[in-house]
Amino acid sequence: MKLLKRIGLLLLIVAIAIQFVPVNRTNPAVDPNQDYLKVSAAPAEVARLLKASCYDCHSNEAKYPWYAYVAPVSFLLQNHIQEGRSKLNFSTWGSNSSGQDLAEAAEEIPEVIAEGEMPLWDYKLMHPEAKLSEAEKRTLIDWFNSGGNSANQLGSDKKYPSGEDDDD
Ligand code: HEC
Repeated sequence: MKLLKRIGLLLLIVAIAIQFVPVNRTNPAVDPNQDYLKVSAAPAEVARLLKASCYDCHSNEAKYPWYAYVAPVSFLLQNHIQEGRSKLNFSTWGSNSSGQDLAEAAEEIPEVIAEGEMPLWDYKLMHPEAKLSEAEKRTLIDWFNSGGNSANQLGSDKKYPSGEDDDD
């Protein structure tokens, strides 16, 4: 089985080689005053749930577990974080320095929670504590739907003109 051995060796070399591909795991600086939870004065339970289930991908406070340092898992993780942040970044909610459509994000949050789309399934596999029970989902959905959080209003006046605003 010479061929199998060669293939094995080749795979091993590839597995080692990809460890040297650089992955940017730095968190951008965080201004606590621009954080969504601060800006919206969210209740403690909402804050706890968002931190536990969403902040690793949708904030500048991502926590990197040991396997975040092992390729190719590290590539997947980094991709999740970059893509997640680009859609919705709770850390920069107040300033919206990344120019996101916050109104849209605020509208989508209860939807993705209700549909069980977020947090992503592979994340839940590694973070059982991020799974939301039905009651926890309700808490978050009610909070985002209630408008008491001002997430939507906040979103729309920070939003860049899209012509779709229904508030005028
Ligand atoms: C493991 C990383 C990860 C976690 C944890 C996570 N998300 Fe996401 N999220 C993503 C990625 C990646 C995208 C963009 C791709 C997509 O829509 O699937 C995204 C997209 C979104 C969007 C935009 C939806 C869309 O269709 O464009 C919303 C809203 C969102 N997430 C909310 C949440 C909320 C709320 C939580 C916590 C309950 C959460 N996410 C947890 C990675 C994550």
